[in-house]
Amino acid sequence: MSKETVLVSGGAGYIGTHTAVALVEAGYDVVIIDNFSNSEASAIEGVEKILGRKVAFEQVDTCDTEALRKVFEKYDFNTVIHFAAYKAVGESMAEPLKYYANNLVSFMNIVSMMKEYGRPNILFSSSATVYGDAESLPVTEQTPRQPATSPYGNTKQIAEDILRDCCRAYEGLYGIALRYFNPIGAHPSALIGELPRGVPNNLIPFVTQTAAGIRECLSVFGNDYDTPDGTCLRDYIDVNDLAKAHVAAVARMTGHKMDASYEIFNVGTGRPVSVLELLTRFEAVNDLKLPYKIVGRRPGDVPAVWADTALANEVLGWKAERSLDDTLRSAWAWEKHIRNL
Ligand code: UFG
Repeated sequence: MSKETVLVSGGAGYIGTHTAVALVEAGYDVVIIDNFSNSEASAIEGVEKILGRKVAFEQVDTCDTEALRKVFEKYDFNTVIHFAAYKAVGESMAEPLKYYANNLVSFMNIVSMMKEYGRPNILFSSSATVYGDAESLPVTEQTPRQPATSPYGNTKQIAEDILRDCCRAYEGLYGIALRYFNPIGAHPSALIGELPRGVPNNLIPFVTQTAAGIRECLSVFGNDYDTPDGTCLRDYIDVNDLAKAHVAAVARMTGHKMDASYEIFNVGTGRPVSVLELLTRFEAVNDLKLPYKIVGRRPGDVPAVWADTALANEVLGWKAERSLDDTLRSAWAWEKHIRNL
């Protein structure tokens, strides 16, 4: 029997590369498409090095309908995982049109071509950002979404709704949205990881760049929140565990196991960790000191969000496994690898 093939859009990115590896290791074939707008060709090389084989790759912008059509003509696949999107919250506030155009046009192109070519399964990269400052914690998939506070977050909500409506309306189309909490860490080989351009927005890349001496000092955004140590609580999920959640979701779709045409799963650990706890663990497991200072709150940050993971645990048969310590070691190993330290 020939292998199931999965199209991975944005497959040269941080989560895409780890997911491509996990899919191939689980017995799937992958076709990666990426326009390298926020990634590098070296990411594909990293994937191939880990796997010890070539993977199908096309440099394609998912907003480019004709280029995307060629991919659908050339490859036979039943499932797409759509990662390709811009993801910087701050930039989305300054350039909303860039975000709406890219994130929504690319997604609608994918959905309409899946429909047109009779390819059934669409897995969408959503985010815990859709919960905003949640009414109750931990958040379940039923916790009401809050109005988005950034165009980036809005594109996630709108794309979820597009997928829900299309799966409801079009016979034979199935969708799963995975709501990621805070993905961190890198592959144990240190051959793939996060490659932020410019000054990182997210905590861990800023931490590893500070440890590497590229940034002088880490700013901790606020220690006056109503949390145990005053800093924000998040659910930091190892990117390799996150990748495996995609494999489980793909298996559910390709195995015709879905209970409805559209399903949503939280992908987190279920464990809240504060900024200070994270920094302290990072220092301890990597045996180094991080220069940091407490500064004011960052606008838009919610005090706390973490996942109720029962649904993913039970229905997907997936659970986060890697320890926070191992994840933080891998984040530092990756930074050292890319800086030749
Ligand atoms: N933080 C710092 N200093 C930094 C960077 C971050 O103290 O230099 C803190 C933040 O204030 C927050 C925590 O570290 O408390 C995590 O911040 P990240 O930027 O790493 O992650 P966020 O939880 O803000 O962002 C995540 C996703 C986004 C998503 C956002 C919205 O990465 O994609 O949640 O909730 F949009």
